[in-house]
Amino acid sequence: MKEILKLLKKDFQEKLSQAKSREEIENLERKYLGKKGKISKLTEKITESPPEERRELGKAINELKEELQKKIEEKYQSISVSKYRDPETERLDVTLPGKKTPVGHLHPVTQTIQEIEDIFHKLGFIRRRYPEVETDWYAFEGLNMPKNHPARDIWETFYIEKDMVLTPHTSSGQIREMERVGWPVRMINISRCDRRQSDINHLPTFYQFEGLVIDERINITHLKGTLDFFVHEFFGNERAYRLRPYDFRFTEPSFEIDVTCSLCGGKGCHYCKDGWVELGGAGMVHPQVLKNGGLDPKKVSGFAFGWGVERAFMKKGNLNIDDIRILYQNDLRFLEQF
Ligand code: PHE
Repeated sequence: MKEILKLLKKDFQEKLSQAKSREEIENLERKYLGKKGKISKLTEKITESPPEERRELGKAINELKEELQKKIEEKYQSISVSKYRDPETERLDVTLPGKKTPVGHLHPVTQTIQEIEDIFHKLGFIRRRYPEVETDWYAFEGLNMPKNHPARDIWETFYIEKDMVLTPHTSSGQIREMERVGWPVRMINISRCDRRQSDINHLPTFYQFEGLVIDERINITHLKGTLDFFVHEFFGNERAYRLRPYDFRFTEPSFEIDVTCSLCGGKGCHYCKDGWVELGGAGMVHPQVLKNGGLDPKKVSGFAFGWGVERAFMKKGNLNIDDIRILYQNDLRFLEQF
């Protein structure tokens, strides 16, 4: 039996030294070490030999097997190394143009958040980020929203517990800011919000930016001046905006803000119908909300506005994005354009 092993090894080594390609080595591997290979066959023979020799024989076969395996591995390496060093295939053409390493960039929504922050910075607004999981008080009750307000329905807002919600708007930061700094206030709170909605114009998770200014003798002209500045910086000088009367519980008077449509420039088209697209809400802070924030409405007044970041981005320039949800689908073909 020992003789057989010796012969087998010699035979194997000869053949291996002649092998030149990956295929030839693979064939040898199969023939010797495969399931039905020579070594397997020998193992089967162990039972045929006398019991006192079996142990030793088993050991010898195992050692041989390991040795062959090692040799095969070395052989694989030797051919790939010699191939790598072949000057014929490994010529360096220094005249070829270089390959650009792909470099990523910030997501368009992150870029937009930074841009918004920068614009308001110029007016002295300070960036804030308030809780995105919020109590009922800051999200609704403290903002004057009655118990039966539609926004408080479980089909509108995500409830974590009875009095805990995923905040549906950044207005929940208003009272927190008043409590934190008192007055004067000039904050821009950009945070994540959630609502039970998903369609071409709505995302279930999105960002809003909320401006809040509180000081002595603040009036609507301050609000309009701030919006003028923002609209022209963000959308460009050719875009106009308008305030439309509306009803929010935490502002009085309240407005919705529209900008001229980026697709038709305000003439009216299939997308906007009458030339205007809605951006968000604004108004003069309600005296009760000032009180809830610990301030005296006889002494100070303020204005607030809150818009969606993704919505604002979509309405920029001539992007012509027909479904807001594409922003979060992680499709590089889309994202790489920004
Ligand atoms: N929070 C309102 C919304 O999400 C927008 C708003 C903010 C309105 C500030 C008035 C003042 O629709």
